[in-house]
Amino acid sequence: MKSASSNSELKKQAGYWAADQVNNGDVVGVGTGSTVFFFIERLAERVNKEGLKIKAVTTSFQSSCLCGELGIPVLDISSVKYVDIAVDGADNIDSELDVIKGGGAAQTLEKIVAAMAKKYIIIADESKSVDYLGETFMLPVEVLPKALSLVSERLDGMGLEYALRMGKAKDGPVVTDNGNFVIDIKLKAPYNKAELNSSITMIPGVVETGFFLGYAQTVCLACKDGLKFLNRK
Ligand code: A5P
Repeated sequence: MKSASSNSELKKQAGYWAADQVNNGDVVGVGTGSTVFFFIERLAERVNKEGLKIKAVTTSFQSSCLCGELGIPVLDISSVKYVDIAVDGADNIDSELDVIKGGGAAQTLEKIVAAMAKKYIIIADESKSVDYLGETFMLPVEVLPKALSLVSERLDGMGLEYALRMGKAKDGPVVTDNGNFVIDIKLKAPYNKAELNSSITMIPGVVETGFFLGYAQTVCLACKDGLKFLNRK
């Protein structure tokens, strides 16, 4: 769906800045993706060189493995009630700091961690900033495999264009860390984000959408002329 290696230098700047916002003793929510890769890299550097004492709660198998490999202690998400700070990437960000996530099919755990976070920071390069959510990225929706037919039928009824996300180097659909499928929906402006999110979420068998509405407190946008910070009022 996207190139993981694009804008690496900008992603690194945002990821490193976010890792420097973590305090000693924090339980840290760790997102998923190529921007979060740099957050983890710098966090590990702080753990190993500065002796920063933190515990991570991760949002995907991939992030758990990376934290483990780099020496960041990982807690199971179900063993904590909140996280002090969570940092994650985004696929689209609008001017109201609402976000589409799920390019890596991890949006369900990502949203759980976002909801547990006292402070939730989105890090991204400037290419993610858009006029409306869906402008450059489809909306990922995690769906129970057995509900695929029902969900497809309902989306047809809503007049939405969509596709089942297919695996690369694998026959058949992408399977999430939770054992489910992902449907990517094409969004066309204008539409009401909250209404659409609630209509999709209400379809039986929909586990979670990639709409993150009202979650981000701060967006750190890495632009060619420096880091820009957008804060929710
Ligand atoms: C994972 O499912 C996603 O929500 C990612 O956080 C999002 O796709 C951003 O990824 P990149 O930082 O790789 O663009």
